[in-house]
Amino acid sequence: MADRLLRGRVLSFKARPESIDDDNSYDYFEDGAVFIRGDTIAAVGDYADLAGQAGMAEVIDHRPHLIMPGLIDTHNHLPQMQVIGSYGAQLLDWLNTYTFPAEAGFADSDHAERIAAAYFDEMLRNGTTTSVAYCSVHRHSADAYFKEAERRNMCVIGGKVMMDRNAIDAVHDTPQEGYDDTKALIAKWHGRGRAHYAITPRFAITSSPEQMTASQALVEEFPDCYVQTHLSENRKEIEITLDLYPDAKDYLGVYETYGLLGKKSLFGHSIYLSARERAAMAETGSVAVFCPTSNLFIGSGLFDEEATRKAGVRVAVATDIGGGTSCSMLRTMDEAYKILQLQNQNLNPLASFYMMTLGNAEALSLSAEIGTLAPGSKADICVMNSCATPGMGLRMEAAKSLSEELFVLQTMGDDRSVSQVYVAGAASKPEAGPHD
Ligand code: GUN
Ligand code: ZN
Repeated sequence: MADRLLRGRVLSFKARPESIDDDNSYDYFEDGAVFIRGDTIAAVGDYADLAGQAGMAEVIDHRPHLIMPGLIDTHNHLPQMQVIGSYGAQLLDWLNTYTFPAEAGFADSDHAERIAAAYFDEMLRNGTTTSVAYCSVHRHSADAYFKEAERRNMCVIGGKVMMDRNAIDAVHDTPQEGYDDTKALIAKWHGRGRAHYAITPRFAITSSPEQMTASQALVEEFPDCYVQTHLSENRKEIEITLDLYPDAKDYLGVYETYGLLGKKSLFGHSIYLSARERAAMAETGSVAVFCPTSNLFIGSGLFDEEATRKAGVRVAVATDIGGGTSCSMLRTMDEAYKILQLQNQNLNPLASFYMMTLGNAEALSLSAEIGTLAPGSKADICVMNSCATPGMGLRMEAAKSLSEELFVLQTMGDDRSVSQVYVAGAASKPEAGPHD
């Protein structure tokens, strides 16, 4: 690939913004540029400075758009692309009525491959360049996920769900099958190119103590892998979990007993946590994953960001497709803002954009590779148009600052606001043609 110089307004975070005017938290170049050499960012700065250094590089002019790091989605479900917008049920009914039957369809590997391709198209259309996914129980669904990501050179994390009870037979494995398939997938994919494996016991209700023991064995054998599961999303779920694990101190205690906490452990939802649970998560460096559109859509509850952060817990954000209603991280942060508003907590727009980029990269311990435009990072980049619709253009006439512009993007934007996306330096936004 020839050297490229992307020209536009360049924004990249350095730290979590403490307020709406925390200008020290980011770098911003009004007439800026990102110099890409191969698949890597070689330099970032003022266009005038970089144009001199960049020699024969092809200049791609994205003015007046914003050039920022590719967005990161830290929790979603590949086999739920056709579950999005399923009516009228809360978590456990939603799983039984819509989700498990849809995931059963992934027994067909052609179907898994077709949906995996559509899933990554949708992610990229929305500016998301790194995704963390639960695949179905079928080993080949994880193969389809990683194969498709590899074809696109994307940095991804994922794993096949392990679930040996309390669903339908078509999506059950056994502790031994879950262990064997996970081990085979780790051998095949973990560390291959930009892929990372996540050991994925779906949640305590669908994993027996024997399967939890198998998960623990995997974590001990492969400490470099991620762990992902669900935690305290819904009150009924918590009640059933505590009935199924009567010796556990609390919901988190189930996972703690089996050694599943740690710096690479991602706990989806984490809504109804006690002080003890938050303290245990903080102490182990475990990550709470806030899934706003899902929490509203399935009626789960309001994530208390302030209490979670104040307790020292690392926080990430995610779409949780298909409980979540949009693959767009902009739509996701719009709902995050509203959830925090209901609790008198303000999420400032700089913090939102930090969370979608560097914040999520830090939560995944991947900030040396993704989440910023720092030289040496992979060139995973999103180009945002704040005037993508007539309504946005009208609103932007009145915007007076970068913070205000970001807030308009978050409140009114979606895939139409993503003008281009680069994966490892390659322009990758799929066409948004009609469905065929
Ligand atoms: N808990 C266990 N499985 C799931 C799932 O697929 N989606 C959500 N939102 N919660 C879960
Ligand atoms: Zn989930």
